[in-house]
Amino acid sequence: MSKIGIFYGSSTGTTEDIANRIADQLGVAGGDIYDVAEADAADADAYDTILLGSSTWGDGELQDDWYDFMEELKEHLDGKKVGFFGTGDSDSYADSFCDAVGILYDEVADSGCTTIGSMPTDGYNYEESLAERNGHFVGLLIDEVNEDDMTDERIEAWVKTLK
Ligand SMILES: Cc1cc2nc3c(=O)[nH]c(=O)nc-3n(C[C@H](O)[C@H](O)[C@H](O)COP(=O)(O)O)c2cc1C
Repeated sequence: MSKIGIFYGSSTGTTEDIANRIADQLGVAGGDIYDVAEADAADADAYDTILLGSSTWGDGELQDDWYDFMEELKEHLDGKKVGFFGTGDSDSYADSFCDAVGILYDEVADSGCTTIGSMPTDGYNYEESLAERNGHFVGLLIDEVNEDDMTDERIEAWVKTLK
């Protein structure tokens, strides 16, 4: 498999934890996992495949640290494969469940990358999500608030599609 880098934004540590659990299953080393609050966009140059993760805040917004980082990262994605993951709360925020995953997906649209890792929406309970396109999610959606018992299974299924 190609060399993988994982970039995440996380305010209270949930998405960071998921990034580490994805890395464990993919065999990605700790040095290849980046908190976008501290990373340099040029760090992405070392990888063929990049996984981008964000929690959703406000009413369907990206995690704060992504705003500046994404503008720079877009210049480093040409020719790469890019996958998306995120955490949210499908009960309290059923109308904007993991919207940030869809926002990340839209942000990279013109960057010359190929997107990977779409997932079925089966088994989720939510009303609306920007991460849903044509009946699929554009990446891995995790709800640690209400459905943490599903997380391992969901990560495993996603990792299989990436491999
Ligand atoms: C004020 C607030 C707003 C939130 N807004 C959303 C939202 O719009 N959609 C969603 O799916 N989750 C929302 N959440 C839930 C968080 O995304 C969720 O707890 C996430 O796992 C936090 O991850 P982090 O610790 O990596 O930032 C919100 C949580 C809070 C406290």
